[in-house]
Amino acid sequence: MQIDPSANTHAENYKLVSNLVVPRPIAWVSTQSLDGVVNLAPFSFFNAIGTDPIYVIFSVGRNDRGGELKDTEKNVRASGEFVVNLVTEELFAAMNISGADFPPELSELEAAGLHTAPSVRIAAPRVAEAQVSLECKLFSAQELGANTVFIGEVVMIHVADHLLGPRLRINNFAPIGRLGSPSVYCRTTDRFDVPRIDFEQWRKEQTA
Ligand SMILES: Cc1cc2nc3c(=O)[nH]c(=O)nc-3n(C[C@H](O)[C@H](O)[C@H](O)COP(=O)(O)O)c2cc1C
Repeated sequence: MQIDPSANTHAENYKLVSNLVVPRPIAWVSTQSLDGVVNLAPFSFFNAIGTDPIYVIFSVGRNDRGGELKDTEKNVRASGEFVVNLVTEELFAAMNISGADFPPELSELEAAGLHTAPSVRIAAPRVAEAQVSLECKLFSAQELGANTVFIGEVVMIHVADHLLGPRLRINNFAPIGRLGSPSVYCRTTDRFDVPRIDFEQWRKEQTA
């Protein structure tokens, strides 16, 4: 079957893409409004897109209530910064609460029983309970239809000590992934490790 997205409604395209391009990591984005209210929300249109320097990207759609800007978008635009906290399984319930449509004056962190920890290079705090947090300065904001794509440069990385092995090897870090909308997730604990293929070695094996 072939599906022409231009013949679909937005809801149909959302259902398709959010269930096909999976699993997606979840950026749990903490921001701060200019009057100091801390906001937290999950975004699964998210990834790392470069390491020299380190850039991450996430995309924010419009609010279900009449297409207003989401609080995250307002805060990133106003402050030029955000923190991407990563979501491990013990934080799942809190992440899910923070995805509810809270009014701007209420902090999702408080509602989810979470605490803030200060960031080092930016004013927006991180989630104290997160095992990994990336402090980001806004690099660009691009409108793509009804979405805004934010690219941030990572200016400080927080990693829980227990995750770090020798030579910066990360051990046992298992963030959850978003597997389908609206509410299917996956664990990342079922792993396999396959060495990269060397082309010359591969060619020799073909002719042997
Ligand atoms: C796991 C998960 C992933 C989500 N991913 C996105 C996303 O990529 N883009 C988006 O606009 N909303 C996404 N949402 C919905 C937002 O988190 C939700 O609209 C939230 O209320 C926005 O909060 P804010 O107004 O405080 O920014 C997601 C929700 C969940 C639970």
